[in-house]
Amino acid sequence: MLRGERVVLRAIERDDLPRYVRWLNDPDVLEYFGFYRPMSLAQEEQWYENMLKAHDTLNLAIEVDGEHVGGCGFCNINHQDRHAEVGLFIGVKEMWDQGIGADTLRALLQYGFDALNLHRIYLRFYAENARGQRCYEKVGFKQEGRFREHNFRHGRWIDETRMSILEDEWRAIVKGETA
Ligand SMILES: CC(C)(COP(=O)(O)OP(=O)(O)OC[C@H]1O[C@@H](n2cnc3c(N)ncnc32)[C@H](O)[C@@H]1OP(=O)(O)O)[C@@H](O)C(=O)NCCC(=O)NCCS
Repeated sequence: MLRGERVVLRAIERDDLPRYVRWLNDPDVLEYFGFYRPMSLAQEEQWYENMLKAHDTLNLAIEVDGEHVGGCGFCNINHQDRHAEVGLFIGVKEMWDQGIGADTLRALLQYGFDALNLHRIYLRFYAENARGQRCYEKVGFKQEGRFREHNFRHGRWIDETRMSILEDEWRAIVKGETA
């Protein structure tokens, strides 16, 4: 398991799946997500079985004080070019804006650079997700592009922002060389 300051990132167990179904059917959680179909437990179980066999993903449960509060991980892990996409969500809405997202990302970045030997870690999100953007900037991600009207959601076109952080940038932050 991975540890942040407050979070523990652990493997996902089958018992966790009903919580994912509840969270991933919550319109507030989904406001900035690409998912748009109501999700069943059977679909989540199918995702879980596929995830167990996948070599280019790492999905983890986020725990705070022993409570499962969300999910996170890497996908599209590319060992030749040493890059991967990172993603996360906090399903327990009462826990938003308490630094859990930033703590989770820092633990993932440390693992990504120090254990997976990645060189670049990137993420994508709906440009209007101001909370997400602030969270990613705090951790050190830099904006590298904005894909205009890339997504159709809530009856309208939405831009997608892409951000990344390089290994050197992360190491400078850890050493306290940059904010
Ligand atoms: C996005 C998410 C992962 C961030 O995690 P989090 O634990 O809430 O994030 P943090 O508390 O570390 O940081 C959030 C920051 O955004 C700020 N913020 C909140 N609402 C904001 C807004 N409307 N505009 C600007 N900043 C905002 C908070 O004040 C905080 O900044 P601060 O620490 O400087 O005060 C989490 O809120 C979440 O899962 N949301 C729902 C699902 C989602 O959007 N997932 C991401 C899909 S790409």
